Amino acid sequence: MKKILLTGGAGYIGAHTAVELIQKGFDVVLIDDFSKSDNSLLDGIEKITGKKINFVEGDCKDSTFLDQLFRKEKFDSVIHFAAYKSVNESVREPLMYYNNNLRSMTELLQVMGKYNVNEFIFSSSCTVYGQPDVIPVDETAPFKKAESPYGATKQMCERLLEDVAAANKNLKAISLRYFNPVGAHPSALIGELPIGVPNNLVPYVTQTAIGLREKLVIFGNNYQTPDGSCIRDFIHVVDLAQAHVKSIEKINEMPSNNEAFNLGTGEGVTVLSLVKKFIEVTNVNLNYEIGPRRTGDIEKVYANPTKAKDLLGWQTRLSLEESLRDAWRWEQKLANKPI
Ligand code: WQD
Repeated sequence: MKKILLTGGAGYIGAHTAVELIQKGFDVVLIDDFSKSDNSLLDGIEKITGKKINFVEGDCKDSTFLDQLFRKEKFDSVIHFAAYKSVNESVREPLMYYNNNLRSMTELLQVMGKYNVNEFIFSSSCTVYGQPDVIPVDETAPFKKAESPYGATKQMCERLLEDVAAANKNLKAISLRYFNPVGAHPSALIGELPIGVPNNLVPYVTQTAIGLREKLVIFGNNYQTPDGSCIRDFIHVVDLAQAHVKSIEKINEMPSNNEAFNLGTGEGVTVLSLVKKFIEVTNVNLNYEIGPRRTGDIEKVYANPTKAKDLLGWQTRLSLEESLRDAWRWEQKLANKPI
C-alpha cells in the first residue's frame, strides 16, 4: 500500500482524512507545526483507528526539516492540507498568509521533485471562483478576483501547481476545491476546533447552542435568495475525507497530470434554513437574530459535483441533518456533556 504524507495532519480535514486512509490500509505519516492546531485530534485518530500514528512536528516552510523527512521516509504521495484558512485573519495579516501558504507549497514541491515523489493532492477551495456567473459552478468556471488574501493564496497555489505540472510531466496533481466543510466524525472523537471566536457558520451555531456564545447573528437576509440569506453547499467532513482517498486511488487514471475537482453536495442551502434544520435536529432553542451583511460574502455558491462522480467515482452520501447532528455531538463532547 502507498505511503502518504499528510501535511497539516492535526487539523480538521487532515485528521478526518487520516482516519479514512488508515482504515483503508494506507501507510500514513502526519506532520503539523501546531500553529493552528494541537495534538488533541491526533489522540482521536488513534482511538478511532486503534492504530498508533506516525506523527512528526514540523513546518512545511522549513526546507531542512522537509529534506530530512523525505530522506528518511519513502513517500509515494503527498496530501497538502497545511495552510492558514481564515478569511478575516488574511485581510488583517496578508503577508503572513502569502508567506505561509505560498512558501509551504513551493518548499514541498521542491523537496518532492528532489526525492522523485510524484503524486500531489492539494487542499483548495471554492473560494477560488469568487461569485460565479453560473450556478451550480463547475470546474471550468473562471477564477474571479479573490474576495480575500486567503482566497488569493488558493488561486495562486493552483496556478503554481499548473505551471509545475506543465514543466514536470512525471508529477500528477489534483486540486480538491472544498465547498463548505461541516460536521464531525460520528464517533465524536475528532471534529472542528476553531481557534477563538469561530468565523464559520456551523461552529458558531454549535457554540451558541452549547452556551459559549450569547447569540448567532445571521449576516443579512436581503439577498436575492428564497429566504434572503446566503446560499452555500455544506458538505460533511467525512464525505470530504473520502474524496481524498478516492483521489489517491485514482490519481494515475486522470485525463491529464493536473486536474481540479469540486467537492460539494450539489445542493444549495440557505443559512437560515440550515439554522432551522439545526433546531429541528437537536431540539435546542438557538438564540439567533438577523444582522447586517458581512463584507466580502458572496450571495450564493454551490457545486456541480459531476466531474468528481465521473472521474473519481465519488459523491456525497451524508445528509445535512447528519452533518448537523454530528457537529452537535462533537460540541457536546468538547463540553464534556453526555451525548
Ligand atoms: C457561510 C455563510 C455567512 C457565520 C469560507 C471560506 C471557504 C472556507 C469556509 C476554509 C455565509 C454566514 C457565517 C456567522 C452567518 N474556508 N454566517 N453568521 O464564508 O462561505 O467560506 O469559510 O476552509 O474557503 O471562503 O463560510 O461559514 O464563514 O459562512 O450568517 O456567524 O454563513 O454570511 O453566508 P464561507 P462561513
